[in-house]
Amino acid sequence: MKVTNASLLTLLLPAVSGRFFEHGESDHVMLYPNGRPDTSKDTTKYHIELSPGETRWVTEDEKWELRRNGQRFFDITDHPDLGTLSASTASKKTVFPKKPTLQKEITPLLKNLSKSQMEDHLTTFTSFHTRYYRSDYGRQSSEWLLAQVNDIIKTSGAEGSVSAKHFKHAWGQNSIIATVPGKTNSTVVIGAHQDSINLWLPSVLAAPGADDDGSGTVTILEAFRVLLQSQDIIKGKQENTLEFHWYSAEEGGLLGSQAIFSSYEKAGRDVKAMLQQDMTGFVTRTLDAGKVESVGVIVDFVDPNLTEFIKKVIVEYCDIPFVETKCGYACSDHASASKAGYPSAFVIESAFEYSDNHIHSTEDLIKYLSFDHMLQHARLTLAFGYELAFTDFAKLEKGSSSSMGDL
Ligand SMILES: *[C@@H]1O[C@H](CO)[C@@H](O)[C@H](O)[C@H]1NC(C)=O
Ligand SMILES: *[C@@H]1O[C@H](CO)[C@@H](O)[C@H](O)[C@H]1NC(C)=O
Ligand SMILES: *[C@@H]1O[C@H](CO)[C@@H](O)[C@H](O)[C@H]1NC(C)=O
Repeated sequence: MKVTNASLLTLLLPAVSGRFFEHGESDHVMLYPNGRPDTSKDTTKYHIELSPGETRWVTEDEKWELRRNGQRFFDITDHPDLGTLSASTASKKTVFPKKPTLQKEITPLLKNLSKSQMEDHLTTFTSFHTRYYRSDYGRQSSEWLLAQVNDIIKTSGAEGSVSAKHFKHAWGQNSIIATVPGKTNSTVVIGAHQDSINLWLPSVLAAPGADDDGSGTVTILEAFRVLLQSQDIIKGKQENTLEFHWYSAEEGGLLGSQAIFSSYEKAGRDVKAMLQQDMTGFVTRTLDAGKVESVGVIVDFVDPNLTEFIKKVIVEYCDIPFVETKCGYACSDHASASKAGYPSAFVIESAFEYSDNHIHSTEDLIKYLSFDHMLQHARLTLAFGYELAFTDFAKLEKGSSSSMGDL
């Protein structure tokens, strides 16, 4: 069924969060100081890529219509050349550890992960009317998130070494990068996306985005907080630099992550691994289907060897098993890292078919989420970050080429 925006609004009004409308017309003024954008008259075209090499020019409304029909894509308008900017990144293959080895250091840290910290953060994060990347609320939520990251750095006494800053974007909501320097500039990236969207009328309707991707945002924030309780980490004893990324505009076609990885590719940055967490809190449909609560490990369009390592991290450090699953092309920000030539992986709350069905609407709420499940993702994130931070990749690469020489 094809409906115009105006009739859609009428259809959806009863479902709209009271928070927004009970304050009356003045909220519109606050939301859009320069007047509400009328997207139905917006004829600007965007270049999108729906599968490798399959591109199309569409309007913004057409973008949301594709998304409502479950189609994912890169919006490549600003970064048509991602993946072709540096000859060096793609050619070198990263070798990952055969198995986790730092149980002695990681196990005590895992005990400090806190469900209530995640719940507190998520409660405030979902109280923004929307985190739509083109709205002023989206800008405000990004300011708030950066303040939380900086607060964690300060509280852990890491201000001398660890830092966080905005990665600026033209649309208003900035991405965030927190850097934990190691002995080298080889970098391990842990990511989630901070923006939310209501796919019916992004500029108007509420988008609490509790699961998508508020859950991933607070999951990696909690892993970051506890990693900074390790004095070794704060002092930079690890081989590699760790970065935590909170991307803007994932919902617009992976815009924030493409901007970041495009700049990394141009600068010749050495990214050894990237792990995305997008939706980490919903288990209801898994349990309703009579299945075991699990971490969903995405196996399509990811680096297979990094993904094998992640499975071992789950077996070693989580209390629940993993299940292999697929999500298609460009389904979250790891795809931008991968396009830039960097090994990337993606884990999600469940098998993809049982993932949260409330997303992209006013109903993506905390009340449907399990903080116990998020805690499992936080354990995975912390362990993954710690293990790979201390991995001597140069040594592993040498080891693998000499063993190949032996064959
Ligand atoms: C856990 O947190 C407490 C309180 O913040 C801290 O004193 C302790 O050192 C932490 N444990 C580890 C293993 O870092
Ligand atoms: C890391 O990169 C910075 C900036 O590009 C450079 O100044 C520094 O020397 C590098 N450090 C190492 C250990 O390679
Ligand atoms: C994965 O590892 C195997 C050897 O263990 C190697 O031959 C292969 O090239 C690697 N694949 C990628 C994509 O790096």
